[in-house]
Amino acid sequence: MTLLFNLLSLVIVGKVFSSCGSKSLRIINGEVAAVWPWMVSFQSVSQNRHFCGGSLITPQFVLSAAHCFEHNKTFFMIAGANNLNDPNLIIHEVSSVTLHENYNSTSLENDIALIKLTEEITDSSKVSPICLPSHTDESLIINQKVIISGW
Ligand SMILES: *[C@@H]1O[C@H](CO)[C@@H](O)[C@H](O)[C@H]1NC(C)=O
Ligand SMILES: *[C@@H]1O[C@H](CO)[C@@H](O)[C@H](O)[C@H]1NC(C)=O
Repeated sequence: MTLLFNLLSLVIVGKVFSSCGSKSLRIINGEVAAVWPWMVSFQSVSQNRHFCGGSLITPQFVLSAAHCFEHNKTFFMIAGANNLNDPNLIIHEVSSVTLHENYNSTSLENDIALIKLTEEITDSSKVSPICLPSHTDESLIINQKVIISGW
């Protein structure tokens, strides 16, 4: 029964999150929904402030930079926000950080980290994942204009 329920909720979560890259300016409970709904903020517990951003790629995984997590060991994450001073921000806990196996902290080659959250984010009203290119996707070309988001 539990397994069935878990499978069912996976299907539901999968369905909600199946559309990546959807951006909207909806108003939810009087607030503007996140303009960049995959953009997250990692916040240091000791310094009580934002130190790095990241992009949600699934309901439970975030892509970020390896250099952010070399020294910051106690931190939490905020998702679905436009304003980090909003008093109603929802905190998400992190269960593990995996740095790219060939990350070089001197040259910053392979400066990639994968962050796993303790729990999946199920409230998709403010949050949705960014689209990742497939390994055969050649649509990103040199000199193409892109958008960078950050805090
Ligand atoms: C956390 O990481 C950021 C970015 O690498 C760095 O600027 C900051 O000093 C780090 N904070 C701590 C407490 O190590
Ligand atoms: C890391 O980068 C530095 C600077 O480019 C280089 O000297 C060093 O050999 C690299 N380390 C590894 C393990 O590749």
